Amino acid sequence: MHIVGRTTSSACIANSLLLHQHHTPCLAKMPPSVGWIATLRLTPGLEPVMHFDGYATKETAMDKSNAAEQYAHGYDSALTLVQHARRRAEKQAAFLLPHLRSGMSLLDCGCGSGSITIGLARAVAPGKTVGIDVSGVEIERARADASNLEMSNILFEVGNVCALDFPDNSFDAVFSHNVLEHLNDPARAIAEMQRVLKPGGVIGIRDADMGGYLVQPPEKLLIDFLALYESDWHTVSGDPRFARRLPQALGEAGLADLRVSASYDVYFAENARTLFVDVAAARYREKDFVERVLSGGMASLERLEAMRTAWLAAAQQRFAWVAVAHVEVTGRKA
Ligand SMILES: C[S@@+](CC[C@H](N)C(=O)[O-])C[C@H]1O[C@@H](n2cnc3c(N)ncnc32)[C@H](O)[C@@H]1O
Repeated sequence: MHIVGRTTSSACIANSLLLHQHHTPCLAKMPPSVGWIATLRLTPGLEPVMHFDGYATKETAMDKSNAAEQYAHGYDSALTLVQHARRRAEKQAAFLLPHLRSGMSLLDCGCGSGSITIGLARAVAPGKTVGIDVSGVEIERARADASNLEMSNILFEVGNVCALDFPDNSFDAVFSHNVLEHLNDPARAIAEMQRVLKPGGVIGIRDADMGGYLVQPPEKLLIDFLALYESDWHTVSGDPRFARRLPQALGEAGLADLRVSASYDVYFAENARTLFVDVAAARYREKDFVERVLSGGMASLERLEAMRTAWLAAAQQRFAWVAVAHVEVTGRKA
């Protein structure tokens, strides 16, 4: 069986991993239990919601790229659909924009919905921009958006940042946003990004760091949930606090002229409500997350429900808000 689910179900990814692990460039850590648990205990209102979208009969993202990274956050939640799509080059790539010029070629690794990639493509037009992502679903979505905008200098392809399908020295600029913290071998991704960068080219990476959240109201249940989220992240793949090691990782990879800054993504008012409700409603409904938390003894169902209620209550508060810390680094290939 070889199925990839849009929710990055651990069972489905596991099947793919088992098929590919003998030649995986970035092998993800797997939770101890990766099969479906058909009898998962859930309270009313917490039924798992799973969607599969027919990858089984065609070449999958995993097939094409041999990618074995498991992206812990899935693609179906409101967070992905709403929050990721709201990201813009002007904000999330502001640290890189001063380094971009018209006519440059640019690669966006792990482009997701492509909302940032589109802004980057505008910055380098008529230079060519390529966005790659392991998710075929995300690539389809990105292609549709670019086509609606009638952008001719942008291309989206399924691909793996740990095994890029481009020759050495191909791009003037290489970017990635909120991707490396999900990888078990970010150094390999950085080496690949560096390989495809032209000498003198600029690399720009921005990642979130879970050690830097601001949450208002600072209620214990909300904070405890973030700690739980972080613990769970470790059991899937990557490092939720990798971002703070980004300067060192780029420096050790041999990139020169490092420039380091940090900034927040702020969720206030409507944005905050969407985020809070997503955390409370969507995340808790993800079967894999609940399964891992329960089977790993990280929290009881009752505790999870209390946290969910706290997030929903916070969403009703007019002045509730959350800020997510990010580290951003640029460097040059010698
Ligand atoms: C948090 S999303 C960020 C998407 C986009 N960069 C943004 O900021 O909106 C992480 C993305 O990385 C992709 N991803 C995870 N592992 C990857 C890999 N090994 N190669 C390429 N993309 C990967 C996921 O499919 C997902 O779309």
